[in-house]
Amino acid sequence: MYKDKILNLLRSSHSTFLSGEELARKTGISRTMVWKYIKSLEQEGFEIEAVPSQGYRIVVSPDRLRQPDIKKGLKTKRIGREIILLPEIHSTNAFAMERANEGAYEGIVVIAELQTKGRGRLGRTWISPPGNIYCSIVVRPQIPLHKAPLVTLMGAVAVAATVKQACGLNAGIKWPNDILLSGKKVCGLLTEMSAEQDRIRHIVLGIGINVNMHLDALPAEVRMQTTTLAAETGCSIDRTMLVRELLRSMDARYLDFLHDPASMLDEWRKLNVTTGRRVVVSGAGETLSGTARDIDNEGRLVLMLDDGARRTVAAGDVTIMKE
Ligand code: BTN
Repeated sequence: MYKDKILNLLRSSHSTFLSGEELARKTGISRTMVWKYIKSLEQEGFEIEAVPSQGYRIVVSPDRLRQPDIKKGLKTKRIGREIILLPEIHSTNAFAMERANEGAYEGIVVIAELQTKGRGRLGRTWISPPGNIYCSIVVRPQIPLHKAPLVTLMGAVAVAATVKQACGLNAGIKWPNDILLSGKKVCGLLTEMSAEQDRIRHIVLGIGINVNMHLDALPAEVRMQTTTLAAETGCSIDRTMLVRELLRSMDARYLDFLHDPASMLDEWRKLNVTTGRRVVVSGAGETLSGTARDIDNEGRLVLMLDDGARRTVAAGDVTIMKE
């Protein structure tokens, strides 16, 4: 695509001017066409300085994801074979679920700049302003139905590893799938599934990572418990780099997962901040207090209740008690 070639040339000139003639020669198109693509880049939000005797240079790049930038040299095998990038959508999970119901193949990724009806766990809303990552991945693992929750745990491990690799931050996982930094939530995962009696048709793994948004975009009660990668590192994060790392991390773990669904449990245990802590678990029709002991091979939380009884919990909201 000529527009991407022009963008790449401007980016690699590192703010020195490139003449229209040079851009035309290097891309093999006319100077008028170069000018048209420059205008189109400006419409995407790039600020491009044009000086008659010198040419063009990028002054400001928008914090906006572009599909060619995400895909360039991305060597994932399964996840991200097709990437749908949308400026706005009701919910990437809902959209991905529709595509999956229509037969979309495994590994398709839907990413949006913002969501108008983002879905959270337990029927909650996921407030989704611009500046973050909203991503849903369709997978079709041939595993027994009762092992499906492990997909979410695998996703959480992949996100925590991405945060470490891309930002150098040590994220913790709160069971089942909240990613925390400094005790505050930086990412949530929502897994939605279509299944027959004993067979998974497809799973949509939805990931919402708080990256560059202003925390005042959130209601006060949520803001207190929320953080962003930008707030934790003190600088704005390159979301393209982050998405690419996420897809790589997810791809590697998913291929291992297909081989052995329990293969990531040790990594999950190392990253988790839940086990060994006193917790209150709510949401499954009852509230349980006790000590989180471990997770079992199906990803359920093993609790020792205050009366000494042992309980496993498949779903719920965990509050970690201060000791
Ligand atoms: C949670 O409640 O912690 C889960 C939040 C999951 C949010 C993500 S954002 C991308 C995907 N699309 C949605 O509608 N939800 C998930």
